[in-house]
Amino acid sequence: MGAVIEGVGIYLPSKILTNFDLEKMVETSDEWITTRTGIKERRIAEEETVVDLAVKACEEALKNAGVSKEEIDVLILATLSPHLGFPATACLVQEKLNLPEIMVFDISAACSGFIYGLDIAHAYLKSGKAKKILVVGAEKLSEIIDWKDRSTCVLFGDGAGAVVLGWNENSSSDILASVLKAKGNLWHILYREPCGFLKMEGRKVFKEAVSCMASASLEALEKANLTPQDIDLVIPHQANLRIISALAQKLGIPMEKVFVNLDKYGNTSAASIPIALYEAIKEEKLKRGMNVLLTAMGGGLTWGAIVLRF
Ligand code: UT7
Repeated sequence: MGAVIEGVGIYLPSKILTNFDLEKMVETSDEWITTRTGIKERRIAEEETVVDLAVKACEEALKNAGVSKEEIDVLILATLSPHLGFPATACLVQEKLNLPEIMVFDISAACSGFIYGLDIAHAYLKSGKAKKILVVGAEKLSEIIDWKDRSTCVLFGDGAGAVVLGWNENSSSDILASVLKAKGNLWHILYREPCGFLKMEGRKVFKEAVSCMASASLEALEKANLTPQDIDLVIPHQANLRIISALAQKLGIPMEKVFVNLDKYGNTSAASIPIALYEAIKEEKLKRGMNVLLTAMGGGLTWGAIVLRF
C-alpha cells in the first residue's frame, strides 16, 4: 500500500526561443550555450500567465489519472515566479480550475519545489488526511529574467507539470524514502531581487548542485535500503547537462538510466521534474514497478532527493 502517481500532465507554451534567436539578443553563441549547458531551445509564454500554464498541466494530469476535480483534497503549487505577491498562485489556479473549497497553497523552494511538494503530499496521504492531491510545478521565468544578462537569460524557460498523487491500499507503488534540505546561509548565490531579476553566481551554484544532489540521493537510497544499481531511472532537475553528468558519475549510474530533456526546454525550475516525468512515461522509459530517483537543487539553497517505486 502506498502513494501512486495516478496521472501526469504538462503544458509548454508554443513559442520556441532557440540559441540562434538568443545570438541576436545578447553576446552569446549556440556553441557556448550547447557546450556549457546542453540547452538548445526553451519555451516562452507570451500572453499566458503562470496560472494558465499550471491550469493546463493540472487539467491534463486529472484527465490522465481519470480523476474528477471534486475528488481532489489538496492542491500544492511550487513556483518561484508566482503571479501575485499574494494570494498564492494556488488560489488563482483553484479558481480557474473550478476546484472545490479545499486546502491550496504555494511552496517557495525554487527548483526543489516540486519534490518538496511531493513529499508533503505523501505525508498527507499517509496520515489519512487526504486521498488525492494535485502537486504542480509551474514557472513563467521569462518574466523575472534580465534579458540583457547573458549569464542567466540563456538558461531558463517557461512551463508547467502536474501529478495527481493518490493513496492505494493494494498498490506496490510508493515513495520509499525522501531527503529534503536547505541551507539559508547560501541564499545570496541564487535569488531574485525584490520585484526585480533573478541573480546567480553560476559557478558556485554548479558546485553546490552536484555535491548536494549526489549526497541527498545517496542518503535517500540508504534510507530506502537500495543502492544506485537498484535504480531503473533517474529524473534529475534539468538545469545543466554537465551537472547531470557529474551527478550520474558520482552515483555510478550510467547516463542511459538518466532522463534528460533540457535541450528542448532549458531550466524550468519547479516544473522541470514533472515535465521530465511526463516525457519519460510517453517515451516508455518509465514504467510501473520501476525504482526511480528524483533529485533537485535550487535557490535557498534548497535540495533533496526522493526514491519512489512508480
Ligand atoms: O536550477 C538550479 C540553478 N541553476 C543552476 O544549476 C546553474 C548552475 N550553473 C551553471 O550551469 C553554469 O555555471 C553556467 C552555465 C551558468 C555557466 O557555465 P560556466 O562554465 O560556469 O561558465 P562561467 O560562469 O565560469 O563563465 C565562463 C565565461 C565567462 O567569460 P570569461 O570571464 O571567462 O571571459 C563568462 O563571462 O563565459 C562567459 N559567459 C558567456 N559567454 C557566452 C557567461 N555567459 C555566457 C553566454 N555566452 N551566455
